[in-house]
This record gives sequence, structure tokens and C-alpha cells, in this order.
Amino acid sequence: MKIGNLEFREGVFLAPMAGITDPPFRKVVQRFGVSGLWTEMISAHGLVQGGRRFATTDLGGHVVPTIFQIYGHDPEIMAEAADMLQDVGAAAVDINMGCPVKKVVRKGSGAALMKDMPLAGRIVAAVRKRLRIPLSVKIRSGWDERNRNAPQLAQIAEEQGADLVVLHSRSRSAVHSGPVDMGILAEVKRKVCIPVIGNGGIRNADDAVRMVEETGCDGVMIGRGALGRPWFPGLVIHSMSGGSAARGQTATILEVVKEHFRYQLELRGVLTGVRRMRKHLVWYSRGLAASADFRKRMVRMDDPEEVLTAAERFFGDAVIS
Ligand SMILES: Cc1cc2nc3c(=O)[nH]c(=O)nc-3n(C[C@H](O)[C@H](O)[C@H](O)COP(=O)(O)O)c2cc1C
Repeated sequence: MKIGNLEFREGVFLAPMAGITDPPFRKVVQRFGVSGLWTEMISAHGLVQGGRRFATTDLGGHVVPTIFQIYGHDPEIMAEAADMLQDVGAAAVDINMGCPVKKVVRKGSGAALMKDMPLAGRIVAAVRKRLRIPLSVKIRSGWDERNRNAPQLAQIAEEQGADLVVLHSRSRSAVHSGPVDMGILAEVKRKVCIPVIGNGGIRNADDAVRMVEETGCDGVMIGRGALGRPWFPGLVIHSMSGGSAARGQTATILEVVKEHFRYQLELRGVLTGVRRMRKHLVWYSRGLAASADFRKRMVRMDDPEEVLTAAERFFGDAVIS
């Protein structure tokens, strides 16, 4: 698939997840194979008006295209933020039109843009004007089950110059749970000529294959299926390529944990690095024997050496699966 001038063999992407898809996590995911990485959402307002720096824009060690996601509601500020991000190495910029979080929606950003399609269109047009790199929009099926306007919004985005639509095929009111609407994903795909990436509920390789087969979407995006399993997008690529793509390295979970932890400490220092890593350790430990006890002990640890020793004992030589 092609997104503007970017070309991908298999379209298997890591979803943007605030507080999760930071540089350390993205680097671990790419080690096992992934077509492209989405950053966590970045406040356009914070970037432009607050002069805030966002750790998530750090691309040190990234070798696959990284798409920076912004959220906001003011076309000019969104355009300015996109311009800043293309200058720091974004492969593409994505506009968040799906975030259901109240404090985002209340200000007219995220999923609120699905209720104001003229404004959404103006934002796409303004960002497009400033951007030399591809532009994507990430939308939901609609604001709620009665207002499922993803096909119309996708068309507006295309008309205003977007190169890609990512559809999280649930409504804003469903948040992150409930069935994924394959019908509306297929409809969006039929309505636009630009590529469409499907997202939602992919937990194994068969889910991804089914989504592509049932809807005709050009690629898939994986969110929670990669939590504690950064190797999962690589497995999906392997499966979707019919086995021709390299399977990625086999490794023990401990090796992956150690690498991930090292990146966290390098980026954030000891205190924040350890705290950020804890939730990932909870996910890495899921499904393993005595994980409840490990989690209970680990959440009280602040010393990286202590965390490492506990991880070595707990994960032992368990391998990724
Ligand atoms: C903790 C968390 C944070 C998220 N943050 C973002 C975000 O910053 N931007 C965004 O567009 N979607 C965000 N999402 C939504 C995901 O990108 C994705 O659309 C959703 O989780 C459905 O995919 P999945 O079923 O594969 O997880 C977030 C989801 C979760 C669970």
C-alpha cells in the first residue's frame, strides 16, 4: 500500500496509544517488524502556544516510518503544529478525530470533530496546505450508534487533501469495547480512493486477515493486542505475507523486557523510567504463572536493579509467543 509517497509491503501499523506508544515501546515493536509506528497524540496547542516539548517526538533509533499524531480544534494551530513536526522527522502527520476523552472532546477536539464535519474539513485543508509529507486522519464510525458518519467524513477528508483514512470501527460512545463494525469499514473503503487502514479488536493474526478479507481495507492497525506483546505486529506481518516475510527474531520475554527497560531509563531517567515501565511489566506478565504476586511486589519497587532482579526471577527463560 502507498500513503502519499510512502510505500509499504504489508500494511500492519502500531496504533497511537497515549502513555504507551512512546519512543521506547515503538523501538521494541519495530525490532520484531511493523510497517509504521504511530506516536501518542500530541496537543497542537501545547506544541505551538505553550512551546511544550514532547518526549514522544524523539526518533532516536527509529528505522521505520513514524507518523506523528496531533489533536486540536483550531485549523491554524493544527497547521502550525504539523509544520513543526515535519521539521523534526515525522514521516507523516495524522489528525486525531476519534479521541473520546471528555477533556479533549469538551474543547471541540478529538471525536468532537465527527460532530462538526465542516470544521474537520477546514482543519484537513489548513494542515494540507502546510505539509510536504503525507496527511492522515484517524476517525471512528461516528459520534454514537445513531450518528455513524465515517463514510461522509472520510470523503470530506479526501476532498480536502488527506492521503489516508484510519478507521477505528467503533463509535465514540463505545469507547474501546464492543463489536467492531466491519460493515462501515467496508463502506468507507468503497467511498474513497485513498487507502484505508482498519483498526479495532485485532488480537490474533486471523482477526487481521479477516478484517482485510471482509472489508477490502488496505492495512490494519494494532493497539491493545501489542500490550505486553510488542512482537505481535511482526507476527501479523508474517502471517499476512503468507509466511514470506521474515518471522522476526525469537527471543525470551526477559530479553525484550530488558531492552524495553533500558530504553525507558535512557529516555526518562531512573524515577520516571521505572514508573513508566511498571505498567508494561504488568502486561508482559499476563498469562504467566504467579503473575499476580510478581505484579504486587513490582509496583512497590523504585530501584531499577531491584526491578531487574525480580524480572529475571519471574520471567526466567519464558519465550515470546
Ligand atoms: C490507553 C489507550 C490510549 C489511546 N490513545 C490514543 C491516542 O493517543 N490517539 C488515538 O487516535 N487513539 C488512541 N487510542 C485508541 C487506539 O489507537 C485504537 O484505536 C483502539 O485501542 C482500538 O484498537 P485495538 O482494539 O487494537 O486496541 C488509545 C487506546 C488506548 C487503549
